[in-house]
Amino acid sequence: MNARYLLRRIPQVNRPGSITFRRISNYAGKAFTLNTGAKIPAIGCGTFQDEERQEGAVSEALKVGVRLIDTARVYDTEQFIGNAIKKSGIPRSEIFVTTKLWCNSFHPDDVEIALDDSLRDLQTGYVDLFLLHYPCTFARGEDRFPKGEDGLMIMGETSYVDTWRALQEIMKRTGKVKAIGVSNFSQDEVENLIKAGMAPAVHQMEVHPFLSQKAFTQWHITQGIHVQQFSPLGNQNSFYRDIDWSNGQANRGRLLGEPVLAEIGNKYSKSPAQVALAWGVNHGRSVIPKSTIPWQIKQNIASDFALEVEDMVKIDALNANLRFNTPGGPYRWPLYKGLDGV
Ligand SMILES: NC(=O)c1ccc[n+]([C@@H]2O[C@H](COP(=O)([O-])OP(=O)(O)OC[C@H]3O[C@@H](n4cnc5c(N)ncnc54)[C@H](OP(=O)(O)O)[C@@H]3O)[C@@H](O)[C@H]2O)c1
Repeated sequence: MNARYLLRRIPQVNRPGSITFRRISNYAGKAFTLNTGAKIPAIGCGTFQDEERQEGAVSEALKVGVRLIDTARVYDTEQFIGNAIKKSGIPRSEIFVTTKLWCNSFHPDDVEIALDDSLRDLQTGYVDLFLLHYPCTFARGEDRFPKGEDGLMIMGETSYVDTWRALQEIMKRTGKVKAIGVSNFSQDEVENLIKAGMAPAVHQMEVHPFLSQKAFTQWHITQGIHVQQFSPLGNQNSFYRDIDWSNGQANRGRLLGEPVLAEIGNKYSKSPAQVALAWGVNHGRSVIPKSTIPWQIKQNIASDFALEVEDMVKIDALNANLRFNTPGGPYRWPLYKGLDGV
């Protein structure tokens, strides 16, 4: 790790949100310290899509040393992850498991029921991190995307702040959740949560070299909130081209095709994907690339090498405020208000 770069970018070294070199049991890589005092591995794996292949993918990931697994109720992958963890024989305490509450379960009376469903499928008594998947609340009930006859989403009657209060209470009372956090929130929305009693431990958000969100990510450092990058490989995932959430922006050349990533990769004998992941880790953020392919999984976990300042600066310069994960319209919520790439 380049100390000069760290000191400039991450002033709170050895405070919550900072990099630590202490090891998490068998995980040999870097970890960050959350504002709860818990450690979160710097590199994990995502499990969105390819549900039926996730048990194999997570088994492979655990085998090669991944100790951070990201899922969500709405991905329908929790049961496969639960199977993989159980079969691995690795003690549960050595694996950091995150899941997310979906928007139809945001009513305070529904939160613990939904959490119990996730815990049952994950075959565990607790999750290390429980996130509000989005700030919008949909109508209560079984339907994850409840729509009226007009085709529009039916929104819930409570707000994400009510859900946040319920999460705090469940965490303190039950121990079924070790830390709570959010995903896809704006700065105003995070500030509302802080006013409601507790800062999130983690904000999982879209960050990659095409969308560096410099000001917003630095603001989180000042608040002691750890930033976790989803879609750390940018528009590599064809999902964003197929669904056209990004007004066609995902159709431009893939991030991993950027010559500067290959050029830097040659210097360190690493692939463009590893360089993109290392960029996030060197900025003090954890990354959760998704892959079901063994050689890619192996490559991804070997991405916590130090990048020199000049290389970080070159990668920073790739920022084009390109946000690919933008489901705003159908969700009837002004997602990412005031943030880059909207
Ligand atoms: N909170 C949220 O709202 C939210 C939104 C999106 C994602 N996420 C989380 O973040 C995770 C990752 O996001 P993502 O899937 O959008 O994007 P990503 O991880 O940046 O990209 C995934 C794509 O990159 C490919 N890939 C993986 N490793 C590679 C490597 N070493 N070389 C070349 N290609 C590689 C994968 O291929 P293969 O699949 O063929 O292996 C897949 O097509 C998700 O699984 C999910 O857990 C959260």
